[in-house]
Amino acid sequence: MPKAPPLRLGVNVDHVATLRNARGGDRPDPVRAALLAIEAGADGITAHLREDRRHIRDEDMARLKAEISKPLNFEMAATADMLAIALRTKPHAVCLVPERREELTTEGGLDVVGQHNTLAPFIARLNDAGVRVSLFIAADPAQIDMAAKLRAPVIEIHTGAWCDAVVDGDKAKADAEWQRIVTGATLARSAGLEVHAGHGLDYVTAETIAALPEIVELNIGYYMMGEALFVGLAQTVRTMRAAMDRGRAKLEHIA
Ligand code: PXP
Repeated sequence: MPKAPPLRLGVNVDHVATLRNARGGDRPDPVRAALLAIEAGADGITAHLREDRRHIRDEDMARLKAEISKPLNFEMAATADMLAIALRTKPHAVCLVPERREELTTEGGLDVVGQHNTLAPFIARLNDAGVRVSLFIAADPAQIDMAAKLRAPVIEIHTGAWCDAVVDGDKAKADAEWQRIVTGATLARSAGLEVHAGHGLDYVTAETIAALPEIVELNIGYYMMGEALFVGLAQTVRTMRAAMDRGRAKLEHIA
């Protein structure tokens, strides 16, 4: 069996901005967090410019693009305003996500089957601009097929339901969700898509999912920022990296 491809860690810095915005000033600075995360071993930085600007703001995204030395993954809803900002910012990648104002976080995957007509021109414009497009979707065969048809080069599998079930100790649900992820990752890879995963991951679930060779990037934020309060961000990045490396090593051991 060929060696598994490397697994990249994208650190999501949204919640550094959440904390900053709680007092309305400039601190803590999400760009400083991004630079520190990269120094500690992150392979890229993810940030979500929400329509309501509840955490990351336009100037954060511009500074991230200007100041970090690793790829920037710009998460956004598929709206005309966001597209204009993304085309100006020219990040390495854009991850299209669903967005509802009343939600606490990105609750479900993008419905690319239901919205393919709306999404097609966004994907085409970003592809033409040389920005790598990723679609944040559930590990559902119909969504995966449509992502491939829409010529998005990348999908990010929504791991939230699986991670919640693991944390809740709901074994039956966790097993079912895990099976969906495994099947979806295999299907996506065989359709020629690059496969990422994210949402709700912690050290344990990141180690588990690292053993899937189809997945080449994990995007992780909330749990890491919580851990960083206790042990510091650099240590958190190193511990997460080690968990991912352990998971990947198990795979190579099986191979
Ligand atoms: N990937 C995507 C597409 C997301 O929307 C989010 C949440 O912003 C994440 C990954 C990171 O999720 P979490 O903060 O739960 O680790």
